[in-house]
This record gives sequence, C-alpha cells and structure tokens, in this order.
Amino acid sequence: MIEDWCSKTVRVRVPATSANVGAGFDCLGFAVTLYSELELTLTSKSGLDFQLEGEGSDEIVPEDENIVWNSIRKMLERIETPHKILGAKMKMKNSIPLSRGLGSSAAAIVSGLFAANECLENPLNREQILDLATEIEGHPDNVAPALNGNFTVNVMKKFEDRIQVDSFNFKPRVDLKFIAAIPNFHLETKKARAVLPESISRADAIFNLSRVAMLIASLSTGDERFLSEAFDDRLHQPYRMNLIPGMSEVFKAAKESGAIGACLSGAGPCLIAFTLPKLKNELEISNSMRDAFSKFGIESRVEILDLDSNGAVVI
Ligand code: HSE
Repeated sequence: MIEDWCSKTVRVRVPATSANVGAGFDCLGFAVTLYSELELTLTSKSGLDFQLEGEGSDEIVPEDENIVWNSIRKMLERIETPHKILGAKMKMKNSIPLSRGLGSSAAAIVSGLFAANECLENPLNREQILDLATEIEGHPDNVAPALNGNFTVNVMKKFEDRIQVDSFNFKPRVDLKFIAAIPNFHLETKKARAVLPESISRADAIFNLSRVAMLIASLSTGDERFLSEAFDDRLHQPYRMNLIPGMSEVFKAAKESGAIGACLSGAGPCLIAFTLPKLKNELEISNSMRDAFSKFGIESRVEILDLDSNGAVVI
C-alpha cells in the first residue's frame, strides 16, 4: 500500500506592493507594510483544504481559480520531486485589499511559490521564483518587491520558452511615507490595461523617461530637490482616469496638503501619495484624499504605510 505523504508545514509572510510609481509603467514597484500570511502543507492526497481570513474572505473563489494553488501547480510542473503532490492544506490571513492596486494577486502568487519552495527544501532559488512569478502575473513590477522587498527596478526579458527578470533592489536614500487612499470598489487589472493605447507620442515617451530617470536619481542619491516632478506620468494614468472618479482631484488635494507627489498605485483604483516623515503631514494628507474622493461619491479608507524591506519571509 502507498502511504499518504505530507510535507512539513511552512508559514510565510508577503508584503503588499505598489507598482509603476507614476511613470515607471510595468517596471518600477516597491513593497509596503501591509501583509498576507500563508500556512501551507503539501500532500499526496488530492484536493484543496483552503481557509481564508481577512480581505477577500467574503468572496467565493472556485478551487480551479485559486491563484495560490494554481501558482503552486505551475511550480510543480517545473521541478523534480520524488513526491506525487496532488493537494494542499492552506490557511491564509490576508490584509491586502483585493483588486485595488496593492498587489494582492502578486502576494498570492509569491506566497504560494515561496511557501511551496520551502516545503520542498528549496528546489528553486529566488531568481527562479521571480521568473516564474512574473510569468504567471505577466509583469514583474509587483511580484519583484513582493518577493524581495524594498524599491525595485525591473527589466523583463522574453525568450522563446521562458521569461527572465533582472531586478535591481534598493532602499531609497530618501526616507518616504506612503499614504494609500483605497476606494471601496474593485478594478480588475485586465480592465485597466484594456483602456491603454498601443502607442504613445514621442513627446509623452520623453516626458516619462525623464520622470523615471529623475525618480531613480533622487531616490538613489537622497537629493530631494526635483522629487516633486518625478511621480507624474503620461503613459497610463491619463487613460485610466475615467475608471477612477475624482482621480486628479485626489492628487491635487494630496499635493495641496503637502504631499511631494501622488500617483495611481499599480492599475488602481488605490491612489498613493508620498511624503517625508520630517514633514509630519500624513494625517492632513490622508484626510484631504478621503474628502476629495467623497466629493465624487466614493468612500475610501486610508492607510499610512512605510517601506517593507524584507519581502517574502518564513515566519
Ligand atoms: N503595471 C501594472 C499595470 C500593475 O499598471 O497594469 C498592475 O498590476
């Protein structure tokens, strides 16, 4: 008789992330202090025993659409293991709001891959986990900081049979605080990508190149002089504006109450403002962003967040 097999049980914690950072569409992203936790045991018994607490627990997701489990299955197709793994026991505690632009799907993918890798004594290294996570997500700007923490600059290279990501990870020399205004409606990334044009003008391309370069120069040197110009974008935000009522007014309100900049977090609808801890104006910015949204009939909750420097960790 073949005995049932169970892996060791592993608990991991993965941060929320904010992608694009204005002009760095599909390239830049950073991790913030809001988390999802996963406890995982892989088994040879088929079927999924999935428990979810927190954000998303009121939504019913069929087993074949479970992102965590589908990511693990993708990994199992790629690696060699002596065990026939047909099921899993998963307990998730999630504080990352779903479909709001804070990397909930990236956190789900990374937590599945990272935890399964630990359960199986690390057949993949971090670079391989990142490549696979990017292949699943389609772009690297959330999965890279979810896995490695900090601020990341990502270059995705597509080969015939695989994807490879070069991810530069650094802790900005400008100490930043983030104010995330999270509206009470979902926006699917697919829908927010469908409104984007196939091409943009040379003037808009130059606008974005100069902002991305200025942002990275400012953050990596600690020179704040031109930072307030560096969060603007002409590649995706103007086209997504119609999907998020009040978007430019919320940006304006944040800046008028002292934020150094503001942008769409990922594909939205969360909007994120940036300030310096020494200015001590986080509460003022939070209130002004919430009020500006409410003028458009949008209820929102605001989170004041810091940079997460750890990425995915075993807890
Ligand atoms: N770069 C992506 C986008 C992030 O803006 O569509 C969303 O996950």
